[in-house]
Amino acid sequence: MTFTIEPIKCSQPGVDFGVSINDLDLENLSDEDFKELEKAVYTHQVVVIHGQGHVTPETQYKITKAFDPEVDTYGHGAQHRAQQSVIARDLSPLPNVPQVQLLGHGLVQDHWGIKERKLTHPNHRVFHHTPLSLEEEAQDKTRFYRWHMDAALYKLNPPKVTTLFGIQNPEPRRQTLQYDDGSGQTADVQLGTTAFISGQHAFEILPPDMKELAFRTKVKYAAHPYLWISNARARSNGLGMVSEGKELTKEELPEIEESAIKIYPMLWKNPVTHKIHLQVHPAAVEDLIIDGKPMGDLEKVRELLYKFQRPAINPENVLFVEWKDGDFVIFHNRGVLHSVVGCLKDTDKRVFHQCNLSASSEPIPVTEEDFAPYHTDAAVAATAVSS
Ligand SMILES: [Fe+2]
Repeated sequence: MTFTIEPIKCSQPGVDFGVSINDLDLENLSDEDFKELEKAVYTHQVVVIHGQGHVTPETQYKITKAFDPEVDTYGHGAQHRAQQSVIARDLSPLPNVPQVQLLGHGLVQDHWGIKERKLTHPNHRVFHHTPLSLEEEAQDKTRFYRWHMDAALYKLNPPKVTTLFGIQNPEPRRQTLQYDDGSGQTADVQLGTTAFISGQHAFEILPPDMKELAFRTKVKYAAHPYLWISNARARSNGLGMVSEGKELTKEELPEIEESAIKIYPMLWKNPVTHKIHLQVHPAAVEDLIIDGKPMGDLEKVRELLYKFQRPAINPENVLFVEWKDGDFVIFHNRGVLHSVVGCLKDTDKRVFHQCNLSASSEPIPVTEEDFAPYHTDAAVAATAVSS
């Protein structure tokens, strides 16, 4: 290996993932170095490669595709372009490499085939049920926008990795992230940071009975999920939706192909470490299927899911990536959740490229054998009695 991997300096005690690399040039990546980089992404979940300001959209696409060579459709396909979709407003494909999306904040001109585009950094105000007041925003307070993995969750398989390239960042400023969920929790963050949590850690910190329940549960995503939630609003900590019955009905949605609806296990296996990750996109979930039986009550589904996922976003478990211009991040999209953070002003400018590709295969399920070390004695005994 010709490059060096170092843990990201992070004071949060629950963060056991994330590395940085200072001595690699992605424009001159050997096959051998790619193999090492791929292993690092699946082992450490988030890899920040510094000093890559010169990387072209073609190279970003090539590197992203190298993780899953058979595919070339953007992770959301064309579904995110539906005007009403909660994804549409955040992304613009580059004309010559449409799998690479331009995102950020402020006016961008003559940028890789785009003549002019006014970008808007996703602001919680358009998505949260109860946003910060304008006074709080003026005091540089902010929120997690939306905890998610990058995935269409309908028709297409979740991308294996996402590459996120921070070309230009706003002038550095600190903001105070507020959870506003009754916990009183806050975090001091860099303006425009990206927040990550590890799905593996999210699983590890669950009590034994919740681990068992997670193993027995499948997650059913809504058809056209980002349209389905387009009138609904999120919790103040960005972890899933508030239940007010505002989801679009089947009649209001485009035609539904039953075979395109995604049902995945709640636990996914890491392809390299073989560790177990709790991996759920909370906002897009329509039902939980426990021991083959659908819960069938959206409010209860969301309450239970929140119980599974809320401990994982405690401040001590969150990695806040502090961007420098030219940072190129590759993250294991099937192993972490992430969130946009930051309330940017008109004068703040941010230019990023993002790429992910709908995967060639479904996530790897956790087998009985994989889960065996986590069975509680009581559960093992119960299974013995019932069999
Ligand atoms: Fe994302």
